[in-house]
Amino acid sequence: MRNYSTEAEPTTLVGPWLEPLLPELIAFRRDLHAHPELSFKEFRTTDKLARRLEEAGLKPRRLEGTGLTVDIGDGPIATALRGDIDALPIIEETGLPFASKHHGVTHACGHDVHTATMLGAALVLQRMHEESPLRGTVRIIFQPAEETMPGGAQSCIDQGVLDGVPRIFALHCDPRIEVGKIGTRIGAITSASDTIKIELTGRGGHTSRPHLTEELVFALAQIAVNVPAVLSRRVDVRSGVSVVWGHISAGSAPNAIPASGYMAGTMRCLDRDAWHNAGEILDEVIQQIAAPYGVDVHLEHTRGVPPVVNSEHETALIEAAARAEIGEGAVVLTPQSMGGEDFAWFLADLPGAMMRLGTKTPGGEEYDLHRGDYILDERALGLGIKVLTAAALRTLRDL
Ligand code: NI
Repeated sequence: MRNYSTEAEPTTLVGPWLEPLLPELIAFRRDLHAHPELSFKEFRTTDKLARRLEEAGLKPRRLEGTGLTVDIGDGPIATALRGDIDALPIIEETGLPFASKHHGVTHACGHDVHTATMLGAALVLQRMHEESPLRGTVRIIFQPAEETMPGGAQSCIDQGVLDGVPRIFALHCDPRIEVGKIGTRIGAITSASDTIKIELTGRGGHTSRPHLTEELVFALAQIAVNVPAVLSRRVDVRSGVSVVWGHISAGSAPNAIPASGYMAGTMRCLDRDAWHNAGEILDEVIQQIAAPYGVDVHLEHTRGVPPVVNSEHETALIEAAARAEIGEGAVVLTPQSMGGEDFAWFLADLPGAMMRLGTKTPGGEEYDLHRGDYILDERALGLGIKVLTAAALRTLRDL
C-alpha cells in the first residue's frame, strides 16, 4: 500500500519560474512556425534548440541527422519528456503575421508548440536546479519525424535515448478541447492502422470453363468477405479490429476470367495486444482463404504504429499536476482517437502517458489538426509547460 501524505499538494509551483521566460518561449514558437521543416529535415530547429539549451548551461546531445536530447539535474533519471519537432507538407492558410515562410510546409499539427513546450520545461527545470539542486534527472527528447512512416521514434530509441529512463510523458495539441483544459485517458488514447495490399494471379480463361483456370474473381470475393468475418471471431471484439477494403479490381469482359486481380484496405485496431495478434492472423487467413482456388497470393502488409497506451499511475501524475497548476476543473476525459502516433514506440517497454493540450479559444472557430488553417490559442503553450514540468517534478519526489 502506498502511503499518501496529508500534506497539501503544492500549487502553481511552476508558474513563478515560467513567467519571466514566457515571452521568449512564445517568440521561439512563432519563429519555428515561420520556419517549419519536414520530417528528418529539422536542421534549423535542432540548431536553435541546441544553441538555446547551451546558453542555459545545459549540454544537449545531438541525435543522428536531426533531433536532440538534454538532461537536467543530477543522478538517476526520474522521467523523460518527449516533444516532436517536425512540420507537414501542407499549404498554410492562417493569415497569421508569423505564417510559414516555406510555401507548402506548415506546422499544422502543433509540433511547434510541442517543441517550445519542451524547451520551456528544460529552461524552467534548469533554473530550479541552479537555485536548489534537483533530486534526480529529467531527460527531454526532441524527436524528429513523427509525421512519416517509419517515424523518428524508433531511430531515437535505437540511439539509446531511453537508456535508464523509467517512464515518459508527452503531449499533443487538441483543437477540440478548450484552452485551459487538458484531456487524459487511461489505456489506449490513439489507434493502430495497417495497410493491406493483395495481388492475386492465376491462369485466366473462359467463364464457361472455370475448372480449367484459377478463378481469381471468386477468390477475391471470398477474401473480401471472409477476412473481416474470421477476424471478428478470432480476435476479441472489444479490441475494435476492423478490416475495411478501399479498392478492389479485376477483369474487363463479362465472359473472361482475368489472370490478375488486386485489392487493398486497412486494418485498424484500438488495442495494442490485439493489434499484434490480429496482424499475424490476418496474413495467415488471407493465404488460407485463397488456397483452395489455386491462385497465387502476393501480400503486402505494412504495419503502422501500435496505439499509445497510457498507464494508470503516469496518467494520475499528469492529472494531479494539471489540477495543481491550472485548477480543479482542468482535467477532462478525452475519447480514443482513431489516428496513429509514434509515441507508442516509446511506451512499448515503459509506463507513460500522453496528454491532450486544449488549444481551442472558448467561443472561437472550430479547427482540426492537419489543416492549413489551424490556428491554436497560444495560451496553451504556458499551460503545457506548467503541467509537464510539474508532472516531472512529482516523479523526482518519488525517487
Ligand atoms: Ni501530431
